[in-house]
Amino acid sequence: MSLISFFKGKGLNGFGAGSTAEQVTEGIDLSGKTFLLTGCNSGLGLETLRVLSLRGAHVIAAARTQEKAENALLSVKADGHAVACELSNPASVRECVQSVEGHGRKLDGIICNAGIMALPKLQQKHGTELQFLTNHIGHFILVTGLLDLLVENGRVVVLSSSAHKMAPKDVGIEFDNLSGERGYSSWRAYGQAKLANLLFAEALAKRFEGTDKTANAVHPGVIRTNLGRHMNPVMNFTMAVSGPLFLKSVPQGAATQCLVATRPEVATTSGEYFADCNPAPTSSHGADAELAERLWTASEELVAKL
Ligand SMILES: NC(=O)c1ccc[n+]([C@@H]2O[C@H](COP(=O)([O-])OP(=O)(O)OC[C@H]3O[C@@H](n4cnc5c(N)ncnc54)[C@H](OP(=O)(O)O)[C@@H]3O)[C@@H](O)[C@H]2O)c1
Repeated sequence: MSLISFFKGKGLNGFGAGSTAEQVTEGIDLSGKTFLLTGCNSGLGLETLRVLSLRGAHVIAAARTQEKAENALLSVKADGHAVACELSNPASVRECVQSVEGHGRKLDGIICNAGIMALPKLQQKHGTELQFLTNHIGHFILVTGLLDLLVENGRVVVLSSSAHKMAPKDVGIEFDNLSGERGYSSWRAYGQAKLANLLFAEALAKRFEGTDKTANAVHPGVIRTNLGRHMNPVMNFTMAVSGPLFLKSVPQGAATQCLVATRPEVATTSGEYFADCNPAPTSSHGADAELAERLWTASEELVAKL
């Protein structure tokens, strides 16, 4: 048994690091509700798809390709429909927005789950560093494009990471280096993208003030998934060996996002960062409202050019 499992009963509602997605959604009836979920075909996304569907939700399952999304739905026998959404391709994200609008369903929640981590060498698309483009900008286009479909008390959940603390220490977001050309480090760039995810949720929560809509960010824990595909072999080996004892399982990893997306106790919580199923502290950059607003403006400007 994983050591994490001992921390099941801690904190909010008795949930903690060891809780699973099934446990945090037990007794919650999601029939009639619709969630849009990115990265539905792997790791935490696939488990989230399975569990939301298990509780009765209709899931609009987004993956890089229609085929991947369809296979994901089939593999967990989920109720929902598939959409293609290649987050690093703005045209694909905009097509996804149109396709979701075309289905005519209102959205009870949007879970921005997809992501890539620690690309060893600088990769760019549309002149932008790929982790920032995929993890943040793609989701920014998706969510801002779908806000009109969000129900009155709709929830947006954005997957960040404790790695947001690895963002550039001095500035948090290097607005003058979003291309990565003036210096690149794999983990710093991942940290910056995950800080952007966190700040996006905060800035969105600000825009939701005075409504019943919420936006929150999540750190799922450390879980061995395909996310580690770009990590060096030593780190991968260490995770493989220590994983069963020290890391979360995929069902435990998917718990926090499922809790924030569905539990009634957090229906009015907004602008918060959750880890291990509970509110958690962020880095100082993560709590910087001015930085969040600057990021929003910079994202709008960047998106306008794409
Ligand atoms: N696992 C952890 O320890 C951990 C820790 C902190 C935060 N997180 C966050 O949790 C989220 C889920 O990660 P995971 O561990 O479940 O990783 P995963 O198994 O690698 O799943 C990532 C998902 O994102 C999708 N994706 C990647 N690039 C995409 C793109 N350009 N367009 C559309 N979809 C794309 C992947 O699709 P393909 O399969 O087609 O590549 C996959 O479905 C990520 O945001 C990650 O940053 C994870």
